[in-house]
Amino acid sequence: MSKSNSLPLAGHYNANYGNFQTELYAQIRREGFGEDIGQNSWLTSDEQDRFLEWLDLSPGKTLLDVACGAGGPALRIAATTGCSVIGIDVHEQAVTTASLLAKQSGLVERAEFRVADATRSLPFSDATFDAITCIDAINHFPDRAYAIADWARLLKPGGRLLFTDPITVTGALTNAEIAVRSSAGFYLFVPHGYDERAIAQCGLRLLVCEDVTENMAKVAEARRAARAARSTALREIEGDQAYDGQQEFLAIAARLAREGRLSRFLYVSTKSS
Ligand SMILES: C[S@@+](CC[C@H](N)C(=O)[O-])C[C@H]1O[C@@H](n2cnc3c(N)ncnc32)[C@H](O)[C@@H]1O
Repeated sequence: MSKSNSLPLAGHYNANYGNFQTELYAQIRREGFGEDIGQNSWLTSDEQDRFLEWLDLSPGKTLLDVACGAGGPALRIAATTGCSVIGIDVHEQAVTTASLLAKQSGLVERAEFRVADATRSLPFSDATFDAITCIDAINHFPDRAYAIADWARLLKPGGRLLFTDPITVTGALTNAEIAVRSSAGFYLFVPHGYDERAIAQCGLRLLVCEDVTENMAKVAEARRAARAARSTALREIEGDQAYDGQQEFLAIAARLAREGRLSRFLYVSTKSS
């Protein structure tokens, strides 16, 4: 079993999950993402619709969403496809919110959320899941090959793995930019090609590799602007330091993505039948 050496999550994860269900944070998500599906990433609803085409989910099938955050994206998949979902995340408040949202949307029979650390072997039997997703979170796990190997273990033969890696280095970065961009805890910065090699090393076959950086540039800038328009209320809730920190994080995330220096890639792979 790998030893977890990730740093504790901090900063904007606490602020976003601690206030997730307030109208203020919901408004910010609506403006930031176009549609609020309860996400805390760079994922939009139209992007998720496209991702679903590769997952082949339907009633009777089960999806594992690793680092599910507040559960919105997994619940939307359960509602859209009729499949069952299990979401895990290390952030307790995120998981509490996810369980509440499952109740509110009448999906408790098909949606379950648990606290678990994805840097360790996950507490499920081999070949349990038809599909596994991990959206904008793999960068928080120090040992990528270990995490993907565990997901390969959990997939049924023919199952699909879909993840996005938003921390792929595709240009020059300064130490100050790296510090701000990684201010929410442990981050692994990898060159393009690293994920493909890890997927192959774990015995999965790559089906799709796509550059999905544009969404990160758009969402980061729209979230920054939506928060700036509500700065007085947010400063009161988050405090000046946390508010300014998150604004700087979003501004740098938008700039690096726009300039193509830090990219976000989508990978879909499959386990042989
Ligand atoms: C950018 S958020 C994405 C959340 C969700 N996938 C979404 O699209 O809304 C990254 C998530 O990774 C989670 N995370 C970070 N380290 C983790 C770990 N070691 N195990 C499980 N989850 C982790 C954080 O708590 C956070 O919810």
